[in-house]
Amino acid sequence: MSAATSTDKFREVRQDVDRLNAESPTAAQFMDRLTRLLQEKMLKYNWVGFYMLEPGAQPPMLALGHFQGAMTPHTRIQLNQGICGAAASSGKTIVVEDVRNDARYLACSIETRSEIVVPVFVHGQVAGELDIDSHFLSAFTAGDRELVEYCARLVGQRLEQEVSS
Ligand code: SME
Repeated sequence: MSAATSTDKFREVRQDVDRLNAESPTAAQFMDRLTRLLQEKMLKYNWVGFYMLEPGAQPPMLALGHFQGAMTPHTRIQLNQGICGAAASSGKTIVVEDVRNDARYLACSIETRSEIVVPVFVHGQVAGELDIDSHFLSAFTAGDRELVEYCARLVGQRLEQEVSS
């Protein structure tokens, strides 16, 4: 795939994401449809899902939400566990080029080689995250990061609207 084609692909998927956002009546529907869209359109996104902080849980706990792909053994993750816990506790995007070299990694599938986790913010606080696994090494380029961060931002905005209404 040429660089130009890959830019076109990101632009096309972003437009699909915008359309989905406009057409989804609730944040939950948007999140569900978004996981499907990303897994269908982005060929290296083999597992796409949300983990959301459980309200009031002590210690804080991430719980598996809408997802596409094989069922994972990790349905609840503490903030001191996994790439997911690290992204939620730091509030920063984490891209792992090769999960075999990251001691934090919690295995979801033996086929996974790379992963990106992007926090979702609601009113400035981490409310959850968008987690994507790939069977390919270093699957997540700067363009992918931009796309996934864009999706996470839109989800945060939709959740904010529901919190304030
Ligand atoms: N790999 C994640 C766990 C979630 S599964 O990938 C779906 C982690 O290390 O936190």
